[in-house]
Amino acid sequence: MEEKYLDLNRTNWNNRVSGHLTSDFYEMDAFRAGKSSLKEIELALLGDLKGKSVLHLQCHFGQDTLSLARMGAQVTGIDFSDKAIDEAKNLAAELSIDAEFICCDVYSAPEHLQEKFDFVYTTYGTIGWLPDVSKWADVIAHFLKPNGKLIFVDFHPVVWMFDDNFTHVAYNYFQEDPIIEEVSGSYADKSLEITDTTITWNHGLSEVYQALQRAGLTIDHFSEYPFSPYDCLNNLIEEEPNRFQVKHLVNKIPMVYAMTAHPKNP
Ligand SMILES: C[S@@+](CC[C@H](N)C(=O)[O-])C[C@H]1O[C@@H](n2cnc3c(N)ncnc32)[C@H](O)[C@@H]1O
Repeated sequence: MEEKYLDLNRTNWNNRVSGHLTSDFYEMDAFRAGKSSLKEIELALLGDLKGKSVLHLQCHFGQDTLSLARMGAQVTGIDFSDKAIDEAKNLAAELSIDAEFICCDVYSAPEHLQEKFDFVYTTYGTIGWLPDVSKWADVIAHFLKPNGKLIFVDFHPVVWMFDDNFTHVAYNYFQEDPIIEEVSGSYADKSLEITDTTITWNHGLSEVYQALQRAGLTIDHFSEYPFSPYDCLNNLIEEEPNRFQVKHLVNKIPMVYAMTAHPKNP
């Protein structure tokens, strides 16, 4: 089963795309009118993007990629979902935003793209879909220019230890085995009529840290946050504007973390 993760997960992501585009969660009307989809955590890490090249890994249907382009970056988004990449291309054309989108698995991206980038950007709901963070870190190192920078923000592995309602610890922090589940609906629309098998992995913080170090990157910044900027999990309340916490665990658990890193010896 585990070796089928790419096919199973791609089917699930392809099945989510049309429902995500019409969901309240992704606010497509506001996005079309110019609203950025980027959140406070990554915005604080990005700085001035004018004239910078950005590779966005796991770009979904391109909302964040196009938000980065609106900030002046020259953007390339990759995702293994052909439906997501088709929609990303349509959206870029519709909004007349210059962007390149490539359909491929993260690990095979170096076979599809020759360029090096000022930034590699990847956020929220990414490495959990990848079995091996060392391979992920090698891909990032491969694509960064000598003075380039990784911007990585994701849900904290502590979040993925809990059951869906945050009532009990259901998974190990040190979870080496894949989590194979039958999932229905989606974080963006719980009523979406899809049910698929997915295969995911919970990667601890030291695993990520060590993978980036081994790939030749130096971590410049590491933060943990007690909130999620997305209302995308069960039992959340908006403790402060755009900061969501588990209602019975307010300020008790980390929900998101962020890292930036650069290649050693530029
Ligand atoms: C939670 S979404 C990222 C969403 C992004 N933060 C956003 O809101 O637009 C995860 C994305 O990873 C993609 N993905 C999952 N596994 C992948 C893989 N092995 N290679 C490339 N893309 C993958 C999915 O197709 C999906 O678009």
